[in-house]
Amino acid sequence: MLSINARTRYCAVLGHPVRHSASPAMQNAGIAALAKDWRYLAYDVNPDELRQAIDGAKAMKFIGLNLTVPHKLLAVEMVDAIDPRAKKWGAVNTVVFETKVSGKWVPLGTVEGFEAGEVRSHGYNTDADAIVQSLLEDFSWTTLRGSSVLLLGAGGAARSCALRLAEEKVGTIYLINRTKEKAVQLGAEIAKENSKVNLKYEYQAATVDMVINGTSLGLKASDALPIDLDWLKARKPKRVYDMIYRPAETALLKEAKKIGCKTANGLGMLLYQGARALELWSGDKAPIKIMREALVREVQGV
Ligand code: ATR
Repeated sequence: MLSINARTRYCAVLGHPVRHSASPAMQNAGIAALAKDWRYLAYDVNPDELRQAIDGAKAMKFIGLNLTVPHKLLAVEMVDAIDPRAKKWGAVNTVVFETKVSGKWVPLGTVEGFEAGEVRSHGYNTDADAIVQSLLEDFSWTTLRGSSVLLLGAGGAARSCALRLAEEKVGTIYLINRTKEKAVQLGAEIAKENSKVNLKYEYQAATVDMVINGTSLGLKASDALPIDLDWLKARKPKRVYDMIYRPAETALLKEAKKIGCKTANGLGMLLYQGARALELWSGDKAPIKIMREALVREVQGV
């Protein structure tokens, strides 16, 4: 890696908390592989100071930012421009700082030097596509079309997943959340855009192709299972995906494996959202293999 000098440029992840983030390890490996003189840092930013942090990074001509919990929803109102899909999902996880070249906005990361004039922040969401890519790849699936999915959770992560699954034309989504009203509200949003998706809010009688955990249950060893274990054992869904990647095997995945389901954790989702962010900043193809290796080393310590 090149040493830091006055020409070194920066990107960062902002979160609260942020110490657990695997993004710096993954992104710095990707950046080094692309031979960029950039560094990717991590900052713990209080939600009520998020606007100042984004504006500060813009003033210092950072290349871009990633946003993690709890900033993704807040940032929608804080960027100068927003990608239509990020607006639709209602969450921004990637900010690209851009400047005008020959009257056109281009990423700062594709422009030499710091001489940029006007700079704007442009918000994107790379999470939603990343989950679809991860589901297809991890379960060796060619299409989600027509499938039935039980989605646990209706928070930030589950929300963009549900809206994106509807776009993939899944047949049925069971929206299950501790606070049922949030699931019903999410269902109403899906119905507005994709009237053909069958939406259900109870799952006891369901048989599904896949279960996805989008709740935070499983992060701690003491957490309860996010699903009824008797149902899981009786229905034996073919595939169980947990958006959580640390621990690598949550209690849900352990139980699912025991009964013969194919399982996958959220590592692929994390990888692909990060790879797409790096592509947006640099205009280059992301070195997926190198980023994946760095991620696995960081998360699993191997
Ligand atoms: P994220 O951005 O990671 O999705 P979030 O928006 O805070 O985080 O959402 C967390 C999700 O986990 C929500 O669906 C939440 O359910 P509520 O909407 O009822 O809050 C779910 N969750 C968190 N703790 C839970 C618990 N102890 N039992 C069941 N669900 C829980």
